[in-house]
Amino acid sequence: MADPTRKPVQVTDLVRWKRDGSRFAMLTAYDYTTAALLDRAGVPVLLVGDSLGGTMLGHQLRDGGPDTLPVTLEDMLRHAAAVARGARRALLVADLPFLSYQVGLDQATLAAGRLIKEAGMQAVKLEGGGAMLEVVSHLVERGIPVMGHLGLTPQSVHAMGGLRVQGREPLAAERLLADARGLQGAGAFAVVLEGMPAKLAGEITRAVDIPTIGIGAGLDCDGQVLVVHDMLGLTIGPTAKFVRRFAELGEATVAAAVAFREAVERGEYPDPEHSYA
Ligand code: KIV
Repeated sequence: MADPTRKPVQVTDLVRWKRDGSRFAMLTAYDYTTAALLDRAGVPVLLVGDSLGGTMLGHQLRDGGPDTLPVTLEDMLRHAAAVARGARRALLVADLPFLSYQVGLDQATLAAGRLIKEAGMQAVKLEGGGAMLEVVSHLVERGIPVMGHLGLTPQSVHAMGGLRVQGREPLAAERLLADARGLQGAGAFAVVLEGMPAKLAGEITRAVDIPTIGIGAGLDCDGQVLVVHDMLGLTIGPTAKFVRRFAELGEATVAAAVAFREAVERGEYPDPEHSYA
């Protein structure tokens, strides 16, 4: 088992964990308090995901799923800086939001560089293979570690015809495998595999030397990531099939708020114990 509790986690640790066969966890975090708690729990990688568009900002697609497309670089900078203030040991990775890296290489460098320089991130993540491989190598050559993201890539939701599992057809599966190899060649230190058949994710994991981090991609990935709201039971509305709720903090929050409201309404709070003499 990876022991992330001793010294700050580096991108090179992830590659070593893969070599050693040590599985590892990654969770999203968007704020100071959550980052401090997850760091205390020994979660070795925190992702300031652009999923904050849904979890923190309430952006929804027309069919009701979370929408990452409206997230701006300024949104990411603000949330990433808060996470960096809360975490001491975890490796901090932030998403490059939609339209912050697709327009040109200089724009991508500036966006990624600001997440490192202003928000205290140690790496960035971006979605896609193909044309994006040039962006990955451009950033890596400038000293910015990059995590890739293949399969169900939410920033391409409209091109995919919705948030759908990818790589079911042989040709699409081959393309994903080629993209994973391409990311490794471009210098990415890890790759998220989202929403794809478990068998394909296993094949990709065995085909590359960089660690794969699965979400809705089965057990054979080197690491696993979940959106923290999903795994804590805080998500408003339905969650995907692959989500396991490790707590029911949404229900606990509602129950606590009801108890507080009722105590106030009955004149039971604040009692002498919670008042100044
Ligand atoms: O934005 C995000 O939270 C992500 C994870 C789901 C991997 O990209």
